[in-house]
Amino acid sequence: MSTASRTRTSEESRILEVAAEHLPGGVLGSSRMPEDLAFVVKRGRGSKLWDVSGREYLDYLLGSGPMILGHAHPAVVAAVREQLENGTTYFMVNEPIVRLAEELCRAVPCAEQVRFTSTGTEATFFALRAARAWRKREKIMKFEGGYHGSHDYALMSSTPKAPKAFPAATPDSAGIPHVIEGEVLVAPYNDLATVEALLAVHADTLAAVIVEPFQRLLAPQPGFLAGLRALTTRYQIPLIFDEVVTGFRFAYGGAQEYYGVVPDLCALGKIIGGGFPLAAVAGRRDIMKAFDPRLDGTPDFVAQVGTLNGNPVAAVAGLATLVELRKPGAYARLHQTGRALRDGVAELLKRSGLPAQVIGETTVFDIVFTDRPLTDYRAMLTADGAMLKAFNTYCLERGIVKGKEKLYVSLAHSDEDVARTLEVFEAALRSLPRSRQTARA
Ligand SMILES: Cc1ncc(COP(=O)(O)O)c(C=O)c1O
Repeated sequence: MSTASRTRTSEESRILEVAAEHLPGGVLGSSRMPEDLAFVVKRGRGSKLWDVSGREYLDYLLGSGPMILGHAHPAVVAAVREQLENGTTYFMVNEPIVRLAEELCRAVPCAEQVRFTSTGTEATFFALRAARAWRKREKIMKFEGGYHGSHDYALMSSTPKAPKAFPAATPDSAGIPHVIEGEVLVAPYNDLATVEALLAVHADTLAAVIVEPFQRLLAPQPGFLAGLRALTTRYQIPLIFDEVVTGFRFAYGGAQEYYGVVPDLCALGKIIGGGFPLAAVAGRRDIMKAFDPRLDGTPDFVAQVGTLNGNPVAAVAGLATLVELRKPGAYARLHQTGRALRDGVAELLKRSGLPAQVIGETTVFDIVFTDRPLTDYRAMLTADGAMLKAFNTYCLERGIVKGKEKLYVSLAHSDEDVARTLEVFEAALRSLPRSRQTARA
């Protein structure tokens, strides 16, 4: 891993200039790196990335989660190569996608049927539409701080700077019609009593409750998901788990297996496409049947179609990934690597004396610079974002890539990678200003 020269080759500088000219903000919608550290990816293998100038990076972004086996895993590459020879998309039922649907239904507790989409955003969008069609209601409940992609219903109170009183929604983006705000009720994550009170008033208007079972970095408090399950069952409101991050990551059956609570529908994405664009709505047959075109022309039909949905290249990449994940000991190893890193970071933080903590589960976590207890979005607002930014920048300078507020672990990360990462993290923590208090303390 190079920490020496940050100078770019003229080729990389030219690509960055073209990107700045032709891509808004020079990016793809992902967050911007500091100007002097921005790089252009040339290739990835295992836990590593290389930029166009030849510098090596240790990757904890992992394509924002899908690359649980690491980059260019030989089994995935071989499966994709073979499929390429047979055509890359058909817009028709094909063997790989049917095999993947079968496997998803075998693996994921709530899944009886599957409708494929290309992105997680579409998966949550169509899960909500199916729930509306089944329940014959229109509003939805989501949780403050929860992220379900970038459609109009999802981008409500995901990152409100000044949260409103529950259940009022705050749009996270320009361009969303105001009328949508009234269609979304926002509740506090991990606060079952408030959810219960809101449902007592609004249940009859609701088509669905959608939740990230593990919200961003926040784990559910004991009883929260089971309580949600009981309440939504009581009111017969479909419960949707957004498992785009947690599916096949927390366990083979996702968060619903890991936490032992089964929703009515779920959204899957990331890992199921093995690094290709593929996502899915999965769930109860009686709700999923709304997608059946034989209902076309009836008030129960849910229209959903996409040119690349059910893409066979993505399907074989996903299937090859799932084969690796089913191998004995795969999850034990993944959790072990994650635990070594997460517990290592926790220990470093303890020694540093900084007001900071590591939160999340073993395979997705990050440092949050506050010593307040963190169970919901509002508590997360007490964190010192500038400290995290400085930490991330220091790590990037030394060749460690991570998300702005998240770190993913893969099966490709070795003990050596973990040891090297902890060395850099230790130095990064030492580089942070000691006297600084948390931003809102
Ligand atoms: C929980 C969750 N849901 C939905 C999405 C949207 O998925 P996509 O980016 O594939 O549209 C994401 C993306 O990161 C996510 O984290």
